[in-house]
Amino acid sequence: MTNNKTQTITVEWTTPSNLAIVKYWGKKDIQKPLNPNISFSLKNAVTTTRVNAKPSTEGGFTFFLDGNKKKAFNDKVANLLKMASALLPFINTHHLTIESSNTFPHSSGIASSASSMSALALCLIDLQQMINDESSQPLNLQNASELARLGSGSAARSLYGGWTIWGETPIISQSSDNYAVKLPTIHDNFMQIANAILIVEPKSKKVSSTQGHALMNNHPYGKARIKQANDNSLQLLKVLKTGDWNQFFDIAENEALSLHALMMSSNPGYTLLHPNSLKVIEEVRKARLEEKLPVGFSMDAGPNVHLLYPKYMEETILPWIENSIRPLCHQQEIIFDQLGNGPQKRISTELKKD
Ligand code: DP6
Repeated sequence: MTNNKTQTITVEWTTPSNLAIVKYWGKKDIQKPLNPNISFSLKNAVTTTRVNAKPSTEGGFTFFLDGNKKKAFNDKVANLLKMASALLPFINTHHLTIESSNTFPHSSGIASSASSMSALALCLIDLQQMINDESSQPLNLQNASELARLGSGSAARSLYGGWTIWGETPIISQSSDNYAVKLPTIHDNFMQIANAILIVEPKSKKVSSTQGHALMNNHPYGKARIKQANDNSLQLLKVLKTGDWNQFFDIAENEALSLHALMMSSNPGYTLLHPNSLKVIEEVRKARLEEKLPVGFSMDAGPNVHLLYPKYMEETILPWIENSIRPLCHQQEIIFDQLGNGPQKRISTELKKD
């Protein structure tokens, strides 16, 4: 393959969102986490991003979301491109047309910044490799994770299929604050985890996660939170090997409720739960205790609830969801997802200018 500066190059990647079981909450330095955090990649909630790089001495970019120019996202994209350009010099010598689309609605409680920033990071690293004439080499996913992290912390965890850890911990020797790594040995039970996203309240968040992270600076429970997250990471890593669902739900729910407790006890404090979020939590706990259903929940920094259960128990769990849970959702909306296999490359083309 010949590569010179007269070529226009296009790449396209599809990258998943992810759901953290141990939460990233609070940051230090340049978007590094205060504590190790552990997530799994989703299958259906994905972003597809196509980047067309056209030689231009002026550089610059145009960003489209679902076919429309979206100024609201320009700052996030510009910020990532600025930081990336030190490592990926083609960014300064090409105009980038970035076209992005998500399979899931905005403000659904699914982290679109995780999937969109990881897809963009992969496209950028891929383009630089093509321009350097290094396309035959596999993409370095750790580099992509590090770049994605600069765009949005949780995006660092969207570069792999299955389970991922981001943030240094002595338990996993390869772990790092700079990038996420894939967790190698996971019990088959947790490779078959399902996630039903309950749209309890579709309105935009009262507080962005970036503002939320800042609430951890000088938080009265800051030190205790870091210890709790380290302990929960240790426990979760054990449980992910043994396959025990009840222990898993205990950790997931402790993390979700702690995240909300930290927000309530910060200054200013926020209550992001909707009355129906609490009703769902009660129903989940009742179903687990009284009906022995293997179901638990997680939540991010908003009112929507992520139900967690084994995909192989779906036949038993779906009727309960329909009867007890769907009526608590806004317009009865639920998005069904499950663990996925990670990013996928869609296209890669080079076109001669003339
Ligand atoms: C509650 O990654 O969205 O979802 O790094 O500022 O972009 P920025 O924040 P973001 O934070 C995610 C917070 C969370 C927990 C998690 O996903 O770990």
